[in-house]
Amino acid sequence: MTLPAADQQSIDVASHRHAVAIAEGVYWIGALDAALRRFDIILSTANGTTYNAYLVKGSDGVAIIDTVKENFSEEFFARLESVCDYRDIRVIVLNHLEPDHTGALPELMRRAPQAKLYISRRATSMLKALLKPGAEQLDYTTVTSGDSVSLGDRHLRFLHTPFLHWPDTQCSYLEPHGILFSGDIFGCHYCDRRLFNDRVGDFRFSFDYYYAHIMRPFKAHLLEAIKLIEPLQLKQIAPSHGPILRDRPRRYLSRYRELSIPTLSPDIGQRELTLIIFYISAYGNTAAMAAAINAGAEEQSGVRVSLYDLEGGEVEPFVDLIEAADAVLFGSPTINGDAVKPVWDLLSSLAVVNLQGKLGGAFGSYGWSGEAVRMIEDRLRGLKMRVPLEGIRIKLIPTLHELKSCQTFGREIANDLRGRQAAMI
Ligand code: FEO
Repeated sequence: MTLPAADQQSIDVASHRHAVAIAEGVYWIGALDAALRRFDIILSTANGTTYNAYLVKGSDGVAIIDTVKENFSEEFFARLESVCDYRDIRVIVLNHLEPDHTGALPELMRRAPQAKLYISRRATSMLKALLKPGAEQLDYTTVTSGDSVSLGDRHLRFLHTPFLHWPDTQCSYLEPHGILFSGDIFGCHYCDRRLFNDRVGDFRFSFDYYYAHIMRPFKAHLLEAIKLIEPLQLKQIAPSHGPILRDRPRRYLSRYRELSIPTLSPDIGQRELTLIIFYISAYGNTAAMAAAINAGAEEQSGVRVSLYDLEGGEVEPFVDLIEAADAVLFGSPTINGDAVKPVWDLLSSLAVVNLQGKLGGAFGSYGWSGEAVRMIEDRLRGLKMRVPLEGIRIKLIPTLHELKSCQTFGREIANDLRGRQAAMI
């Protein structure tokens, strides 16, 4: 019995032994990791993932694009061997050097020693760190936008797309086939042996979830990458995780653009800056400080101030607010020598957004030692925020005089915010 081509492809993927053709002379030679439930410690992978690697046959040699996580090497090599001889491999392109894509690289280099490596400039130190010892003798070529490598009747053009997801990342584009090998960009953790976006299950959640955790902190870089990708004739996007996007691939470009363009509430004027004050209070003292800081900040025109009590324990919606804000203050009492958990919960959720250069500050009432304010300030600096004013610590109940100091603190924060904007203009 002859199976329909689509069914045969699923069988080839599931067999762990066969390459799958995605275009003429272009093959998927990756691996399925259906059992994975956590990736890079921080991501849930309810559907597992795939490590996608590709093989391109040209009239003048074969290119391998990325490899797989080390413990999936056997599957990768079996698929590779089903369509090519190691002696024909002339080019190895590494779009991204994280170990989930370079685990099989040392063995591939051993089996195809004549192949030349093509990496981005920023990947050099990572490559040396990955392949030590022996890194001194490495033979590789660094490439960037505008560079390409010929395989005879077809060639791979490189696109410099740093920080998506590491500083080393690049994309490679196969001409004339219109296939973008996009590395982590446009990927998702979704394991389905049907492999192609028009055949797998509904992976929209996984696509957006992956964006939120991997790409979101680098929106500015992503918008730059989109500018490079936009003019390409895109027949397929072949990412390094999840489904191959062959059906209307531009939809995924649009989705990334939609998720990456900064949004400003229509209620906030274009020339207004936003300051958000988060606080939590055990006996009302830190709350009183927050109210006084709020009053002081509101004296400054052109700054829209918002006050939020963290008592409810919300985190997710506040991450969005903080990403859009110009300045953020955190108020916490000190309990057992520490800031309190709802504050840390929020602060520890901010790694997914870019806070570089935003203004930050801290305040809080304390009973004995008052460490919370300094701890929060350290965290804000660690998130690359600017902390221009030393935070306010008040022992127990603030006096009227101390509340005045809080008001002054709020006013100065707002002034700093306005001053900075004026300087930028
Ligand atoms: Fe899939 Fe950033 O590695």
